[in-house]
Formats: sequence, C-alpha cells, structure tokens
Amino acid sequence: MARLDPIVEFREDHRKVRDHLMELAGAAEGGDLEAARTALGAIDALAGPHFRYEEESLYPSMKEFLGEYVDSLIEEHDGAIKTARVAAKILSQSSVTPEEGKMAAGAARALLIHVSNCDGLNILAEKFSQEKLDGLADDFQKARDQNVALLNWAESVRARKVA
Ligand SMILES: [Fe+2]
Repeated sequence: MARLDPIVEFREDHRKVRDHLMELAGAAEGGDLEAARTALGAIDALAGPHFRYEEESLYPSMKEFLGEYVDSLIEEHDGAIKTARVAAKILSQSSVTPEEGKMAAGAARALLIHVSNCDGLNILAEKFSQEKLDGLADDFQKARDQNVALLNWAESVRARKVA
C-alpha cells in the first residue's frame, strides 16, 4: 500500500471534522436529534485516530519547531475531549430541550476553534525532512488502523486522563 501523505491527510481530516461540526451545530440548534447524533458519531470516529496521531507522533515531532508550546496543544485536547463529552451527553438523551440543543451547538462551535488552530501546524510540518514525514505517515496510518474513536480513546487508551 502506498504511504499516505501526512500533510494532505491531516488537512483532509480537518475539512471533514469542520463540516461535521457545522452539521452538528445546525442540527442541534434545529432540534434534529438524529442528524446531530450522526454528525457527532462521524466526528468521534475521525477525531480518535487524529488526536492519537497528534499526541503520539506529530506533537512530539513539533517540539523541533515549537518547543514547550506543544504542551499547551495537549492541554487544548483535554478541553476538546471535555467539550465532546458534553455534546455526547446531551445527545444521548431521548429528547433534547431547545436550551440543551443550543448548548450542544455551542460545544460544536467551540471545537471548530481547535480545528482551525490545528490546521496551522501544517505550515510547519512542511518543513520536516522527508525521513521524518515518512515516519509521521506510518504513525498516522497506524492510528487509523487502530481505529479507536475519540471518547473511547480518551477513556481507555490515552494515558493522560481528563476529569
Ligand atoms: Fe488536528
């Protein structure tokens, strides 16, 4: 199998997550619980391997350019996990009040900020050596093959726990 391009795939993940977050926000606000759940499920599935790749491979590599700032990226993930949990909890109910729908939409929009910030890392990733990019590609592929969704990963695989 050809090696994936970690820069292209990274951005592609962000595009997909961005679109699903926007769907989620719209559906949660519009009271379409089914559509909101579908969008959240897609985000959970995509973001699990993505976060895992970031924390296990990309972020440590980024220390070359960003030094200790990388630690704040991991803290940002803690916040994103908490926010995703809030949305999942709201949407797991049999019905959702307009107020709760607004809260879930707010959570989705808060996560958009992470997507936007994270995509900026690509401008630095372009400066990695080919050897490093090949290693990143293999790690990205591995995280996808392991295929653990975000909330499950945060609970069971990620060493750092979010209260
Ligand atoms: Fe990302």
